[in-house]
Amino acid sequence: MNYYILRCITCRKEFNPRPGLYYCEECGKIMGTLEVVYDYESIKNNAALKEKKFNKKASMFQFDFLLPTKPKLKLDDYVGGTPMYKFDLLGVKDVLIKYDGSNPSSSYKDRASAIAINKAIDEGNDILFCASTGNAASSLAMLNAHTDMKTYIFVPAAIPDGKRTQLEISGAEVMAVEGTYDEVYDLSLELGLKKGWYCRHAAINPYLLEGKKTGAFEIIIQNDFQVPDYVLIGVGDGTVVSSLYKGFWEFKEIGLTDKVPKIIGVQAEGIPAIKKVFDKGKPYKPISIEGSTVADSISVGKPRDVIKACTYVEASGGYFISLTDDEIIDAIKELGKITGIFAEPAGAVPYGGLKKLIYEEKISKSDTVCLVITGNGLKDVNAVKDSISKTTLTAEEVIKRFEE
Ligand SMILES: Cc1ncc(COP(=O)(O)O)c(C=O)c1O
Ligand SMILES: [Zn+2]
Repeated sequence: MNYYILRCITCRKEFNPRPGLYYCEECGKIMGTLEVVYDYESIKNNAALKEKKFNKKASMFQFDFLLPTKPKLKLDDYVGGTPMYKFDLLGVKDVLIKYDGSNPSSSYKDRASAIAINKAIDEGNDILFCASTGNAASSLAMLNAHTDMKTYIFVPAAIPDGKRTQLEISGAEVMAVEGTYDEVYDLSLELGLKKGWYCRHAAINPYLLEGKKTGAFEIIIQNDFQVPDYVLIGVGDGTVVSSLYKGFWEFKEIGLTDKVPKIIGVQAEGIPAIKKVFDKGKPYKPISIEGSTVADSISVGKPRDVIKACTYVEASGGYFISLTDDEIIDAIKELGKITGIFAEPAGAVPYGGLKKLIYEEKISKSDTVCLVITGNGLKDVNAVKDSISKTTLTAEEVIKRFEE
């Protein structure tokens, strides 16, 4: 574990870490999200790091020199180290597909939950809470199931069955609340902070982004230290997209790579809150809009990590785009058919985004591209149920079908 401080994304004030400190009070919960800042110079000059052999399949904790906690849990060895495939897609050669649906609870969110649980242990807190569109909650509930620590989960009642089932199976205490994700988030945050429970809200707890950024580290090492030109990722609250930037930036900062890719955040056209803020330009201002999308995981109208997301994406030279629900469903189906990867809607949007950007000639066929697939499609089969065939046949019809 390394020494680090916390720094406000807006006023740049620095803080020494302490339990219960999640944001800069002067700037508030959305403007005042904190960055975890390490002593990059000393990490860069660390002789052991220069000799370090990275393992393409090891867990995310192989990057402990840039993490705020040490692994202490049974499942820590299995979080991260997810596969990265290469496919020729849409005329682009060797598109990297980082598939995080193969994490223990089947989403990218395990990277953050593993940090949350270990951090709660460090701080001597034995109750964790989380509000979520589904994946962060089911991830926390599943990874924490085997410990003696309690998990309180707050989710919108309408989350997909797969995610709700994971929650119930984990034994966590589930509050499925009537309302939107944005409403449930506010409710849980007020309650959880008042009670002093450990907060597993990635958009406000700065340490959770640290787990998520390991996805970027893995893309680098699994691609033999060649950084792609573009990385595409689905965006809701804005933490995952921010984490990718930070991961790529940190490896460059400590001298392991020489560039940061352009990060493209992909949102749903039905509720493109961060895209709206980004397109309006600086100074970035929090927003609250209403809307909906089939991609439940990114159905966020009041994004909490919007300042980091816009600041980091701009620093990368990237931008935000959005897809209609029809484009998202098509993306799930095409990705599945070409690669065999079944992604949930928010996980498939990078593929739809690539298709759009090639069509608009913003990405060319000679660019190097990575798509980050954040969630397994089995979590939300209902999203595609109306657009797939469910024909049933009699035995006679099957025999007839194959008759000469
Ligand atoms: C599968 C999946 N993809 C993408 C996201 C977007 O992450 P963020 O809310 O940090 O923008 C989420 C968030 O729940 C998710 O579950
Ligand atoms: Zn501040």
